[in-house]
Amino acid sequence: MAAQHVVGLDIGTSSIKVCQLKATKKGTQLVAFDSIMLPPDTIRDGQVMHAPQLSERIQEVFGLNKIRNRRVAISLSGNSVIIKKISLPEMTVEELEDSIQWEAEQYIPFDIKDVNVDAQIINPSAGQGQMDVLLVAAKRAIIDEFAEVVRDARIDPAVVDVDAFALYNCFELNHEVPRDETVALVNIGASTINIHIVAGGMSAFTRDITTGGNLLTEEISKQFAVPWEEAEHMKTSSETTLSMSGVLREVQRISERVSEQMVSEIQRSLDFFAATSMNAEISTIYLSGGAALQTGLIEGLERRLGAEVRAINPFQNVFVDPKKFDLASLQRMAPIAAVAVGLGCRARGDR
Ligand SMILES: Nc1ncnc2c1ncn2[C@@H]1O[C@H](COP(=O)(O)OP(=O)(O)OP(=O)(O)O)[C@@H](O)[C@H]1O
Ligand SMILES: [Mg+2]
Repeated sequence: MAAQHVVGLDIGTSSIKVCQLKATKKGTQLVAFDSIMLPPDTIRDGQVMHAPQLSERIQEVFGLNKIRNRRVAISLSGNSVIIKKISLPEMTVEELEDSIQWEAEQYIPFDIKDVNVDAQIINPSAGQGQMDVLLVAAKRAIIDEFAEVVRDARIDPAVVDVDAFALYNCFELNHEVPRDETVALVNIGASTINIHIVAGGMSAFTRDITTGGNLLTEEISKQFAVPWEEAEHMKTSSETTLSMSGVLREVQRISERVSEQMVSEIQRSLDFFAATSMNAEISTIYLSGGAALQTGLIEGLERRLGAEVRAINPFQNVFVDPKKFDLASLQRMAPIAAVAVGLGCRARGDR
């Protein structure tokens, strides 16, 4: 029997998302999904600024959704994580586990004592007695910080993952992973853009860029001299509401400019990948994250990168009982759900 799923808990900068999945004979079924906003500045630059509030919100979202499974998978992103594909002499998993801490030292710009290191063999025989290994190092202080917040909510952080991998797991659950094409998964959140390039059905490259939708909120707040919350509201208001207040044109203009900047950043990462890879031609970009809805973003990506842009549908292959869920509101949350769904795929006992 498959191990029991843990609950996916995606602690984003702007909101927390929870996703509980269940393996059934018919496939994966949705047990719970919800998101709850965080006050601005609860998390800043990837660090928890207001731990008690964050714990409260986590408790709240578990309570509201009557989630009784208290084991969760959380994830890290941004500057606290380093992911690298390295080449090592062929060895067994056990040998790798014994030596990785030592091997990792030369690839990691942090003091090795301050990080948790994990490694996974992605290609056991890459030729000439070498194998490809994915090295993941995360700052221990940041892991501890988030784990502590979760424990304070009386929940067990059983699995600690990375946003970019959760994104991949969500993609794999819902879409056919192309074997002979290169695609890019791009998740644009409030403060981080996660990029995961999949080539030939395998993970080829990941990168986090530390920018996101907050940049637009800041710009709107500056240009209109309004507080953060109001700028956030203006940004996500409908076109009708904005045109009635006469600011539609200006908000769109700012949004297009900020989107252009974000597209440039994404392009730079993809160019870096292209320069170091043989399967460089990206055919499709699978997009997710709340800020992917920002005016000018999809158009900018299509225009500048010449790839087809599609939305990841995190619930495509998930059975959702219409008696239990309001399908329309679930679909509205779909753009921000990818990481939580990917985390919800993880099982107890995973690392
Ligand atoms: N309709 C919209 N138009 C523009 N921006 C939007 C819209 N809806 C949501 N956003 C923005 O998307 C962002 C939230 O997305 P998401 O929930 O994916 O981020 P997060 O997970 O909280 O952040 P991160 O992963 O970066 O820590 C916010 O910046 C929000 O303003
Ligand atoms: Mg996020």
